[in-house]
Amino acid sequence: MEREKILVTSALPYANGKIHLGHLSGAYLPADIYVRYNRLKGNDIIYVCGSDEHGVPITITADQEGITPQDVIDRYHEQNKAAFEKFGMSFDIYSRTSLPIHHETAKEFFLSYHGRDLLNENKSMHFYDEKATMFLPDRYVEGTCPRCGNEEARSDECENCGALYEPEELLKPKSKITGDSPILKETSHWYFPLGDYQERLENYLQDVNEKYGWKDNVLQQCKSWFKDGLKDRAVTRDLDWGVKVPLDSAIGKVLYVWFEAVLGYISATKELSIQRGNPEMWKDYWQNKDTKYVAFIGKDNIVFHTIIFPSMLMAWNDGNENQYILPQNVPANEFLNFEGKKFSKSRGWGIDVDEFLDLFPADLLRYTLAANLPENKDTDFYWKEFQAKTNGELADIFGNFVNRTFIFAHKHFEGKVPARSKLEKIDEDMLNTISGFPKSVGEYLERYKVKDGLFEMMNLARAGNKYFNDSEPWVLLKTDKERCGTIINICLQTIYTLAEIFSPVLPETSEKIFGMLNSKITDWDSCAKDNLPVGHQLNMAQILFTKIEDKDIEPQINKIGVPEGEPEVVSDEITIDDFAKVQLKIAEVLAAENIKKSEKLLKLQLRVGNEERQVIAGIAQSYEPSELIGKKVIIVANLKKAKLFGNESQGMVLAVEGVDGKLRVIEANSSVESGSIVR
Ligand code: MF3
Ligand code: ZN
Repeated sequence: MEREKILVTSALPYANGKIHLGHLSGAYLPADIYVRYNRLKGNDIIYVCGSDEHGVPITITADQEGITPQDVIDRYHEQNKAAFEKFGMSFDIYSRTSLPIHHETAKEFFLSYHGRDLLNENKSMHFYDEKATMFLPDRYVEGTCPRCGNEEARSDECENCGALYEPEELLKPKSKITGDSPILKETSHWYFPLGDYQERLENYLQDVNEKYGWKDNVLQQCKSWFKDGLKDRAVTRDLDWGVKVPLDSAIGKVLYVWFEAVLGYISATKELSIQRGNPEMWKDYWQNKDTKYVAFIGKDNIVFHTIIFPSMLMAWNDGNENQYILPQNVPANEFLNFEGKKFSKSRGWGIDVDEFLDLFPADLLRYTLAANLPENKDTDFYWKEFQAKTNGELADIFGNFVNRTFIFAHKHFEGKVPARSKLEKIDEDMLNTISGFPKSVGEYLERYKVKDGLFEMMNLARAGNKYFNDSEPWVLLKTDKERCGTIINICLQTIYTLAEIFSPVLPETSEKIFGMLNSKITDWDSCAKDNLPVGHQLNMAQILFTKIEDKDIEPQINKIGVPEGEPEVVSDEITIDDFAKVQLKIAEVLAAENIKKSEKLLKLQLRVGNEERQVIAGIAQSYEPSELIGKKVIIVANLKKAKLFGNESQGMVLAVEGVDGKLRVIEANSSVESGSIVR
């Protein structure tokens, strides 16, 4: 097999706050798993990341906390770097965009464009704070919306009514810095002619998609940008925090943060090259057409990686001899929510990585997050699910298999790998099963299907347990110790393979198991071969996964209050027409009875206008049948008929789930006529 050259990046997180679980699920954990796998495959891979330290998000945090932007980035860069390390991220470098090497790189790109007259200079009016002597970024101006009167409208848009307007239309504008009323002052900015690249970008995307199969969510977003038509974009800002525009005439101007942050991947690789004593090494990745570049990001960063960054690289390549490669894939993930709602720093919703890892080992978190990655749609982290995955899968399946095998080997074979005698069919089948795993798991990971890959890994642990159960070594102990040894030998080989194929997801656990096996990890493709010679001495078993008790997570669950004013996360929006398809009607309960054999269901006879209907409802744990009679409830009247425990149900009763988990029907006022339509 040829050794592939691979360059992997994860989005550079802003150094203005702590990393939370949502970040990990989007751009970091899947990339780390991919990278660890490729290292074991023997590929020549580097993994580059770092802090994004410029832009308005940083200066806003500085203002809020009353410290300098430099203080902000120093604090969060160190904290995030440490949190990533604790989580087991295996970056080759975690750099930062405030370093001189990055400023130089970004300026070099700007000057290459500017020198070729690629950038257009345009004048426009912008708010200026005379006391602070600065132009105000959009988020720094507040005023009254000219449309709806909302007094907290931004300089060019109103979040309340959605209006977009020119800054001069905003009423009573106020600077958030001094509270003064800002003036409008002419300013000029450089624009990157993004529109000129549309056709090439479309071709590029079509080409990489045909060759490498891009994710649908990513393609869809690109298409909608293309459909609207790409427009010129300002690449400078009036701000003093950032990469200074390298022109004498540009006073108080910096490069727009996105325009330089993406170049941070390149400068970080340069820094890595210097660290490794080979300053030119970065070219071997970035300017080598045989390198496969994969950019891991969350969905909010898609256009910057599939449109802006590639167009910037194309523009460079047009005017320079040294040619950059473009991303071969951008496997962006959707978002992870926390217990049903968006993570929100300001509202205290969610949990930071360092806080989490003070409570539980990183591998447990890696497992639950990996099993639940938002690969195709938003997903949620729930404490209860974390507990269930840890106990029911890691401990009961994986841990149990390793544990029972080790106990057996130590108790009955002096902790040495027993010999394999004549193989029976069940043994041969198991050996065959094992041998398929490096390939099957690898194929998923290569296609960025981490969730499926993880499920497949656990399948080997499942197969191991089944083999142990079916071959019953404890029965053979007295009658046929040789055969018993064969089984334990095969179980130990299985554990070796498990330790390796799980290692990208559970690096610490894998290391522990190799310690127990008194052995070392090998290359990926060899991990299902016989790696443990007969007679090889094993070490004592260690506890791999401690089960999580209710009391371990209860304090966390109790901490979750309902944050004020936080809207519920609506993952799949529907239109009013979709909703109109649902026919809701008022129904009166005429009769109700329990359904035999079901603890949950009640059979209800309802009057809906002048029609009678039977509906089966899952409310038996909340009501005595007699309590319901005479109540006016709401039903979905046009639901497809269904049979439940042999009873036809012609609709569904709407109910709410209480904090106790019980369902209670939604009652309509008794004066409402049955059959009335709810809308
Ligand atoms: N800092 C950005 C964010 O957190 C991501 C920047 S990715 C980069 O959303 F490529 F621009 F660096
Ligand atoms: Zn408004």
